Formats: sequence, structure tokens, C-alpha cells
Amino acid sequence: MKGIILHGGHGTRLRPLTHTGPKQLLPIANKPMSQYCLESIKSTGIKDIAIIIGGIGSNKVKEYYEDGKEFGVNITYIEQESPNGIAQAIRLCKDFIGNEKFLVFLGDNIIQKDIVEFKKEFETDDASASILLCEVDNPSRFGIADVQDGKIKKIMEKPKDPPTNLAVTGIYFLTREIFDIIDRLKPSWRNEYEITDALQILLESGKKITYYTITDYWKDTGTPEDIIHANQIILTGMKPYFHGIKEDRVSIEGNVMIGENTIIRSGAKIIGPVIIGKNCEIGSGAHIGANTSVGDNSILIRCNIEDSIVMSGCVIDCKINIRNSIISNNSEIIEKNENKKIFLIGEGSKISL
Ligand code: G1P
Repeated sequence: MKGIILHGGHGTRLRPLTHTGPKQLLPIANKPMSQYCLESIKSTGIKDIAIIIGGIGSNKVKEYYEDGKEFGVNITYIEQESPNGIAQAIRLCKDFIGNEKFLVFLGDNIIQKDIVEFKKEFETDDASASILLCEVDNPSRFGIADVQDGKIKKIMEKPKDPPTNLAVTGIYFLTREIFDIIDRLKPSWRNEYEITDALQILLESGKKITYYTITDYWKDTGTPEDIIHANQIILTGMKPYFHGIKEDRVSIEGNVMIGENTIIRSGAKIIGPVIIGKNCEIGSGAHIGANTSVGDNSILIRCNIEDSIVMSGCVIDCKINIRNSIISNNSEIIEKNENKKIFLIGEGSKISL
């Protein structure tokens, strides 16, 4: 079997974070969200993975994953010139897939369920596709499966009047039968070639589609709130480690993951779950509260921060409470003694003072 990770799109709901790169590279617990997909695929034994790239900063994806060796897989990059839907992206992989069955992951889907058994079953089964379903509170935002008596009756994209709350997650086991169907698809109301439409055609032509309903955590990280939530869930499940340097009178509680060469100064307070990357400095006036990730090479001298993501190379030295925030690479929040504030902020930024 082979694997595909969809890594394109505009990530409009995550602007300004996505002005400089694809949303799937945004870090959750200091790791790009698409790396969780790659690791999930790899865990099933699949080694050959195509990453579909396109849109702003797609070269950053190649720079990060390179040929995949460092991650224990072989990566082929395929460009999607315009983001015309999941089905279109999958169709670009026809030659890469050849005659094999394959597993597709949307690179913005975070799943905690181990999928090894699903893969094994699909490999030997005669089903044309297999999908993972998950109950959601807002079914109109997703592809939805109408399931009756243990069988999928219908699959539809973002229905106004959903028959069930079973969302089709962005993890699809497929066979090459899907390619011919995609060739016959028409664009949907949002002008995309929908994978849900292709699956519905498979069903209508009498093909077997199996499903599993997962109850473990699953998130399609479309909004900043989704990312902050996924960050909290992933951090909560991590095993603590301490590779840094600690001065006297440092207070650390709960699960805390600290990277190499990170120095925690006397007086600093950290309440886990918290991850802090490599080469950081956590100053005496810093209070880093639960569900916070701090990327490599960041300096937090003064601040009170919780439920937030600070990426790499940031400097925070300011007596403020930061909550539910995402601070991109190389940003600075510093307080000078002058009674004036200086801002240099990108388009679409949000600041609540
Ligand atoms: C896409 C699919 C949808 C699926 C969702 C899962 O939606 O079209 O069927 O439920 O991913 O993440 P989109 O993220 O494009 O709105």
C-alpha cells in the first residue's frame, strides 16, 4: 500500500498565520501538524508517501521533509497548481499509486486512534473504499455519512440538513477504482472536486465501502481555536522529559517537556502540560501555564502565558497575561518603559488589549 498526504490549500481561516506558509506546517506541541499524519501512515508499515503541495510557501514543505529519509519514509512531491478539491489532488497521484491500494490523509487532520488494524483489514478486504467516521456537534461543516443498519447508505458534503452527526474524517482508504470516478466528477457548489461525491458514486454503482466509527480524539484544524485545542490534547498525552538546565528556585509542576540547552532561570514558574523546545531562555518573570508550547530559540523573559502556542525565535518580555494565542515565528512582544506602544503587524493580525 502507498500513502498520500494533502498539503495544499490556502488556509484562509487561519490567516495571518498562513500568509507565509501552508497551515499543515503550523506546529502542534512543537511539531508540524502534517508530521502527525506522516507518523500515522508510517505506523501502518507504509513507506512510499506522496505529498501534494501547492499554494503559498509550498517550498517550505520540501525543505522540512526533504526526501523523507530522516522520517523513515520515501517522499515524492506532486504539485497541485490550483486548489480545486481533495478529489482533484488524489487524481494527480494516479501514476504514483499504480495498482496498489492506498491511504489518504488530509494534512490538517489530527487523529489519536491507531489505524494499523484498519489498514490490515482493508488490505485483505474486497471493499472499494473504507472511511473513518466520527461523531461531531456541527455536522454541517463536514462530509457526512448516513449509516443505517451498519451500512453506509449515502455520503454527502456539508449537508444543510444532516441525517446523522457522523462526520467523514479526512482519512480515506482507497483503491485505484476511484480515479475513473474522479474523472467523471463535476465541481461542487464551492467549485471543488469533492471526494465525498466520488465516494457517493462508488456507493451508487454498488461497490462496497466499509467504515469504522472512531471515538478517540479527531480534529480538522481549520481555525485557531481548533489548533489551540489540538495542542492541549497532544500535550496532555505526552511523556515528560527534561534535557535543559535549571537554576535554583524554579517551580515546575505537572508534565513538562524541556529541550536541549534550554535554560530555566531562577524564579520562573512552569505548570504543565507544557513543551519548550531547544535553546530557549525562560526568564525569572515568566509564568508558563498549562497547555502551552514554546518553539526552539525563543526567549520568554516576562509574561504570564497559558493555552497558547509560541513558535520559534520569539521574544516575549512584557508584563501581560497571554491566553488562547498563537504567536508566529520570530515575533516580538516587548514592553519598554515609554508610555507608547509600537506595532509592526502583518495583514489580518488580531490584537486584543
Ligand atoms: C474536507 C472534506 C469533508 C471532510 C473534512 C474532514 O472538508 O471535504 O468531507 O469531512 O475535510 O477534515 P474541508 O476541510 O475541505 O471543508
